[in-house]
Amino acid sequence: MIPYILEWGSLLLRWLHVVSAMAWIGASFFFMHLDASLRSTKDIPAGQGGSSWQVHGGGFYEMRKYLVAPEFMPEELTWHKWQAYTTWLSGFVLLAWIYYAQSHLYLINPDVMQLNAWQASALGVGALGLGWVIYDQLCKSPLGKNENVLGLVGLVAIVAASFGFTQVFSGRGALIHTGALMATWMAGNVFLIIIPNQRKVVASLMAGETPDPALGKQAKQRSTHNNYLTLPVVLLMLANHYPVLYANSAVIPPIVFLITISGSLIRHFYNVRHSDHAKSPWWTWAAAAVALWFTFWVAMASSPTGREQLGLSAAASVPAKESHVPAPAKVIEIVTSRCSMCHAAEPVWEGIQIAPKAVFLDTPANIARQADAINLQAVLSRAMPPNNITAMTDDERTAIAIWVKNSK
Ligand code: HEC
Repeated sequence: MIPYILEWGSLLLRWLHVVSAMAWIGASFFFMHLDASLRSTKDIPAGQGGSSWQVHGGGFYEMRKYLVAPEFMPEELTWHKWQAYTTWLSGFVLLAWIYYAQSHLYLINPDVMQLNAWQASALGVGALGLGWVIYDQLCKSPLGKNENVLGLVGLVAIVAASFGFTQVFSGRGALIHTGALMATWMAGNVFLIIIPNQRKVVASLMAGETPDPALGKQAKQRSTHNNYLTLPVVLLMLANHYPVLYANSAVIPPIVFLITISGSLIRHFYNVRHSDHAKSPWWTWAAAAVALWFTFWVAMASSPTGREQLGLSAAASVPAKESHVPAPAKVIEIVTSRCSMCHAAEPVWEGIQIAPKAVFLDTPANIARQADAINLQAVLSRAMPPNNITAMTDDERTAIAIWVKNSK
């Protein structure tokens, strides 16, 4: 019963999480675009804001921005904050639901560190909190005055954090915690900097004072960080559904580095293009493509069989093609003894009640049908069995490789 509840809970939480993230990211993209498209007008001189005309849903909008604040407070003011809060809160509960409540399956790899569920969860939550404090202090330090230097230091911090996570968690746990850390920076920026600053501005306007321009500047800096973090964070959140990306913990830091670079570059393209079409930095697409190509390469080169396929090491001696498509008894025995306790109509592994991803590896016919998936997960990437929980040997993986090759 409990695995079913966990599965349904995760579905509903993910639904909420994805929808609120769409709203938050949509708003972030919209306002970055709006800022870039603002032009000074007669009544709003350059440097003090601007206006922009837009058409949407059957009407025309005249958007006006007042840097720092308008002269008077409107009676009604729409705040954009719940998209961010809901995304973070639902994301945190989802993280706890999957990685803390089912830590033995997803978060803990005893070969990396012998942790119990409480220790692993405390490490995860503690790292997210500490990560926010470090980031916030970096932004407030003299480094924060130079955007480029700060960006570089931030990148190093992200990669270092991912390395730290690989020293305590499973590959998948390390990847999701790196994404969660960046997402915590983003939500923290909204909750602890942007909204409080805006409240101070409103309060001083109400009191008839001139608000401090530094408040708006700081908020803009943090919202720009959020904008650049968006694409890398989304890819990291998706990456934990792709075992090929987290199969080998040693290459997670370079993978995180490359993903962060490529996502930020694509964001940069749009930020520049929206302010001036003529200056569209097309090179960012080429650079992002190169970074993604390297990501693929690094992930593949991290497994012995992947290296062979890339021609980086000599191919293992695979016998010449034979014409038997059905799995030989040996392969059936290997897959049955290493995989089918989870991947069966009635899994016997504790905590698994339905075959993960509906992948059934319990009969010779099912095993033959899944040959490519078995090859990808157990041979090319070695992502399965998770954390090699059922102790599959290298010889067994080679036997599968030979079988797959022969059955083509
Ligand atoms: C301890 C349980 C367990 C064992 C043993 C296990 N798996 Fe899995 N497998 C999982 C889980 C959990 C997932 C889902 C991962 C996810 O949510 O992304 C999965 C996913 C998969 C997928 C789908 C991957 C995808 O993202 O599409 C394949 C294919 C797979 N396993 C093959 C295997 C093979 C082959 C073996 C044996 C060598 C194996 N598994 C052993 C638990 C197990």
